[in-house]
Amino acid sequence: MIEDVKAQNELVSVVEQYVRLDKRSSSNLFGLCPFHAEKTPSFSVSPTKQIYYCFGCHKGGDVIHFIMDIEKMSYPDAIRYLAERAGIQIPEPDDIEWQARQERRKRLQMICLEAARQFYRNLISPHGERIRIYLQNRGLHTSTSTRFGLGFALDEWDGLLNHLKGLGYTDEEELLQSGLFKRGKNEHLYDLFRNRLMFPIFDAMGRIIAFGGRVIDDSMPKYINSPETPIYSKGRHLYALNLAKSSKQNHLLIVEGYMDAIALHQAGIRQTVASLGTALTENQAQLLRKYTEQVIIAYDADAAGQAATLRSLDVLAKKGLKVSVLQVPDGQDPDSYIRDYGPERFHALMDRSLPLLDYKLFSAKKESTINGELDPIIYQEQACAILAREQNAIVRELYANQLAEELQASPESVLIEIDRRRNKGSDETARHHEAVQQEKTTIRTQPDSAVTREELYLLGLIATEPSLVQTIDISPEDFSKGPVQNLAAEMLKRANSGDLTPSMLIDLCEGQTIQEKPLPDLMARVCMRLEDLFGQQDLEKAAEEQLWKQRKKKLRCRLDEIRCDLGTVDNPEQQTCLKNELLEVTRQLTRLKQKMGPEPEEKESKT
Ligand code: UTP
Ligand code: MN
Repeated sequence: MIEDVKAQNELVSVVEQYVRLDKRSSSNLFGLCPFHAEKTPSFSVSPTKQIYYCFGCHKGGDVIHFIMDIEKMSYPDAIRYLAERAGIQIPEPDDIEWQARQERRKRLQMICLEAARQFYRNLISPHGERIRIYLQNRGLHTSTSTRFGLGFALDEWDGLLNHLKGLGYTDEEELLQSGLFKRGKNEHLYDLFRNRLMFPIFDAMGRIIAFGGRVIDDSMPKYINSPETPIYSKGRHLYALNLAKSSKQNHLLIVEGYMDAIALHQAGIRQTVASLGTALTENQAQLLRKYTEQVIIAYDADAAGQAATLRSLDVLAKKGLKVSVLQVPDGQDPDSYIRDYGPERFHALMDRSLPLLDYKLFSAKKESTINGELDPIIYQEQACAILAREQNAIVRELYANQLAEELQASPESVLIEIDRRRNKGSDETARHHEAVQQEKTTIRTQPDSAVTREELYLLGLIATEPSLVQTIDISPEDFSKGPVQNLAAEMLKRANSGDLTPSMLIDLCEGQTIQEKPLPDLMARVCMRLEDLFGQQDLEKAAEEQLWKQRKKKLRCRLDEIRCDLGTVDNPEQQTCLKNELLEVTRQLTRLKQKMGPEPEEKESKT
């Protein structure tokens, strides 16, 4: 299947979707590298070998690597993407439900696309004149408005409804699921967005998945947004990421609003994304982490914006992002600031953005200042608590020195106060360390062993999000003996030492088979479905649930084995031993069920 996908996606044609290859040597094509900023082309593609290589940044590989790199996709996702591009059906013979869900998502995406087209037509029609003037007054160029796909929802109750029905979208349940309509008391559907400037929301791949709509007067609410739908979940997307991801900057800038993002893009600050609400979610942080290691938060100067900044900081830092905070002067947001003062002044603000700890200390100081006077007791209390949470001892000491100066105290006493707070939390750290310790498993080869759906999902989830092993209590023993358990042991080991990437999963099971099926293929297929299965959920919860189901299956399986053995063993000692185990396993099973709570019984399925 993988070879098929490669064969049917000619590298040059794929690369040319992203890069202009306008120079050629005897055998290679050259263009400007999409992976690093450069002025002379050092990115080469070999049409005969079907590989690419950049002489500047040394990235290289085949068509799958190219897509993985440029779209920041996992190996299986890249394969799926390329399969779709070439019109290759990925076999999903056994899962009608999955296919149906996939089909439904595609139709909802089509509905959103058709809606956006209609909103756009309205905007450029005579009805849209007011809106066009409004945009002009806010300093937006027509080209910017078009790049962001802005539109206008007419002042009608069924303008969009009738349009979509006319295009053949007549299934009212489906229309409701798109989030664009509501059902009135009279049972009829009506347009959710009326008389509003429309902002399509794109996913990272540039597909329209939802909308925001703004009034252009002072009426309330200012914005209406699409509700959660099968294709849109607010906390999982970032506005303008589809454009920002190729900005070639080493950081991304996060703002609050649609207009902030658009204005900054127009001013050439194309690394901007908007969180479209207040604080960032863990999922959004994870998404950011795929594209960059460094972010700057530039929320509004108002209290809500500053509170959201503080809440977002830890979420971002926890995902390993280097964070700093840009402070927009009072009363402004990035959009109004750049309109009033221009891009240069905004760049100056970016240069002055405060690293995470500095910003936290700065906020603490502001909070401890009452009527213009700093209360040193409150401030030192808060500041020490902030520094106690810093892991790096050298960094702690540097900041302690600075704080000591501010408080006119000795650095030693500040450090003592910080350490005192750290010791309170240290029991927890020890327990965590213990959980991370890895047990060695004996390697057994059992080529014909069975494998459960749950354990395949678990492996896929861990490969996607290795940090899961820190939070869920999982060990190789949870997996079926044989190749899967060996694979799990290796993956857990790597995940714990921070050395696991999604594509490794496929590499690690190279050459292994399960019931004569190649394990890499099986894993690739599982990974391709993860997004659809768990895309809308918290991955940690999903993994936990799969783990419990897996444990239950294992215990049930053992019960069956014991019952079977009981029927064949004559030796009374062995009989007692088995009966004891039977009791124990039953107990464990009951405990597990209590922990899991009630759940719908489902068919047991062994792949
Ligand atoms: P703001 O009120 O700061 O709006 O809300 P804005 O983006 O600066 O818009 P303009 O400049 O007044 O046109 C920031 C973001 O919060 C969400 C929107 O995503 C908005 O862009 N929001 C705000 C809502 O969803 N609903 C609201 O009623 C207000
Ligand atoms: Mn604004």
